[in-house]
Amino acid sequence: MVYERSNIRRMAGYTWGEQPEDAGTCKLNTNENPYPPAPGVATALKGVDAADLRTYPQPTAAPLRARIAEHHKLATENALVTHGGDEALRLAITTFVEPGSPLGYADPSYSLYPVLAAIQNAPVLPAQYSEDWTLPADFAKRANAAGARLTCLVNPHAPSGRLITTDDCGRLASELDGVLLLDEAYADFIDPALGYDSAALIKAHDNLLILRSFSKGYSLAGLRLGYLIGQEALIEPLLTKTRDSYNIDAISQRLGLAALEDQDHATDTWRRVRAERSRLNDELARRGLACPPSQANFLLAQVPLGAKRKAKALYEALKARGILVRHFDTPRLGDSLRISIGTRAQSQRLLNALDDLLDDVSAAR
Ligand SMILES: Cc1ncc(COP(=O)(O)O)c(C=O)c1O
Repeated sequence: MVYERSNIRRMAGYTWGEQPEDAGTCKLNTNENPYPPAPGVATALKGVDAADLRTYPQPTAAPLRARIAEHHKLATENALVTHGGDEALRLAITTFVEPGSPLGYADPSYSLYPVLAAIQNAPVLPAQYSEDWTLPADFAKRANAAGARLTCLVNPHAPSGRLITTDDCGRLASELDGVLLLDEAYADFIDPALGYDSAALIKAHDNLLILRSFSKGYSLAGLRLGYLIGQEALIEPLLTKTRDSYNIDAISQRLGLAALEDQDHATDTWRRVRAERSRLNDELARRGLACPPSQANFLLAQVPLGAKRKAKALYEALKARGILVRHFDTPRLGDSLRISIGTRAQSQRLLNALDDLLDDVSAAR
């Protein structure tokens, strides 16, 4: 006897990146920040008294919510704290997507989007990123024509790292009939010189939600903390209706505050990641592995056609040497490896291995 709903029976679940137990693995596969969280996070963790866990946590994570809002120059009503960015996506889809009507996004994007759509019994918009990782020009028109009430746009894009400007985000929000969720899980790594500031769009757009995560920028992937910001009318149903009661545990609330408090520490890790991103990009290019320009903490390296090993074989050979990167076995991404930005030593280990494994790349170019 099968008890699942029929759409759950038909769907495939999310495939998560490998999480090895072996501390010696060079882990460049799930875009974690290679630097530790702020020292204040460890202090806050040591300060947790088990007796405090006897009672339920503050139901809406109010102090953290207020601090997040202040960080973005918004009011508390404009922010919602979630159990990782993933819960924010699930809540948005549950709240805004009618079962049977499509979720808007362009493929490839974060591979959780179609999984969450399938759970909601919603089809997905058949839109594809162009060769150069730009959105199709008629993207909003197609989303509107299909009746999409929610469109997710990851910016900087995953897995290419390509950024669209604040103005383009605003334009898209104006063009879309439904809600635009800008998934900014990687936005902390954008070069500040580019002046990207999507939060400034919120006042002008009643259909704009912005997702942020503590996982990458604040080195807290293990904690599961994220948030949404947007106009109060968008935040309110998520906060009061679709969210789990007490969705943020007491420890996460305290640690999130400690992480946000130390902006100097966080911004220093972002600066170091940007510097290593630029160096690794150049080193990969020298070896014939071109990457689209990335403003995220990863690079999408295309393995040249004439290379001794194709991307999948390269992924496996690197894994055998204790170096994990991500390979997506799909028509669009099958020739590429997504490489998280690690420390300089981690990049060097990867580059040394590539020198060995691709020893005939330059000859093939
Ligand atoms: C594009 C994108 N959005 C959202 C998330 C969710 O991040 P988390 O749930 O760790 O906050 C991820 C995680 O990898 C991601 O890649």
